[in-house]
Amino acid sequence: MRGFVPTQQSTVDQMVDMLFKNNRPKATDRVLDPGCGLGAFIEGILRWCKRHHAEVPQIVGIELDKQRADIARQKFLAVPQVEIVTGDFLLDEFEGLFDFIIGNPPYVSILALKEEEKRRFRSRYKCAVGRFDLYMLFFERAVSLGRKGATLVFITPEKYTYVQAGSEVRKLLASHDVTDITLLEEDVFPGRTTYPTISRLRISNVGEHTQIQTRNGASFPVLLPKSGGSWRHLFSNDKPPEVAGSLCLESICRRISCGIATGADGVFVKNAEDLPEYLEQHAWPTISGRQLQPTSSKVKTSSVMLIPYSAESRLKCLEEIGELGDYLKRPEIKSKLALRSCTQRKPWHAFHDAPQMAELLRPKILCKDISDNPVF
Ligand SMILES: C[S@@+](CC[C@H](N)C(=O)[O-])C[C@H]1O[C@@H](n2cnc3c(N)ncnc32)[C@H](O)[C@@H]1O
Repeated sequence: MRGFVPTQQSTVDQMVDMLFKNNRPKATDRVLDPGCGLGAFIEGILRWCKRHHAEVPQIVGIELDKQRADIARQKFLAVPQVEIVTGDFLLDEFEGLFDFIIGNPPYVSILALKEEEKRRFRSRYKCAVGRFDLYMLFFERAVSLGRKGATLVFITPEKYTYVQAGSEVRKLLASHDVTDITLLEEDVFPGRTTYPTISRLRISNVGEHTQIQTRNGASFPVLLPKSGGSWRHLFSNDKPPEVAGSLCLESICRRISCGIATGADGVFVKNAEDLPEYLEQHAWPTISGRQLQPTSSKVKTSSVMLIPYSAESRLKCLEEIGELGDYLKRPEIKSKLALRSCTQRKPWHAFHDAPQMAELLRPKILCKDISDNPVF
């Protein structure tokens, strides 16, 4: 069954300490452990309560795999506060809200999902965008089941903090109060390269600083962006070298990106001189990193990109783009476009990533994406 990676006791104990930090559980509180596996976190909670002479709260573990759920149920037969539900945390309905949520959700990439599953998740979850992973949806579902003021502690790959597919998760979490992001050593899950990360969230509409704990032991507060932008650059407290009069790109740019991804440059990028006149109205000047001359800040390009999008980034329908539509519909071109993986979720004439036209049409600073000595 998918995504079973048990959490070691030391990590469980670290996370339970974070869960109950400044907030001892009461007997009437409800704790949720989604994807509970064999109950590692439930054991951790019982250990914590014993060690701290605290009341044992009501604990609900939800596990998709029947065998694992049965083993966990057996294990806690003598603890009336524990209930193990065999079910699908992402698709089933659950009653009531929770005061504490803790877990190690399954890490299952979209690539391992069936088409039908992808469709179902996309229609149900805001965070099911791009190349999403199941643990991102666990965040979304868990937040929706938390009472106001509830605390959530999850261990997941660090990836959600910076990949494009994590933008909705970041937006969601940053709209609450992310109190801690703790980056853990690789050996937490032996044999796996996941860059494990503990995220601690308080469900609340007032967010404050987030305390970052890095792998080299540094700890410092940051303010997470609410926009869904990457958090990665915030995880290092290295200051850029001081150079008189210098500025970071980040402080003078609205956005830093690697440009448009069409998924079929052979179709959309043309030499301006070879472009038939009837396509000119759809063509915009473009340049690739490869074409930039490191020795000169003059930008010369003879390439153009055919763009089937409006200035508001709306994909135009084929009728609307007239001759460009006719060109794209040519069998040899259409079949090339239809082969791109992105066409499983968007029209066959769309770009791989929708271009952000308003920002693309502003003045830009260009540089090669990979270069020993960047020139801007
Ligand atoms: C990474 S393991 C963690 C297990 C346990 N929490 C631990 O830390 O040892 C994730 C667990 O989630 C379960 N799982 C996967 N998809 C699920 C779903 N949709 N609903 C409930 N459980 C699920 C898997 O069967 C697996 O046991």
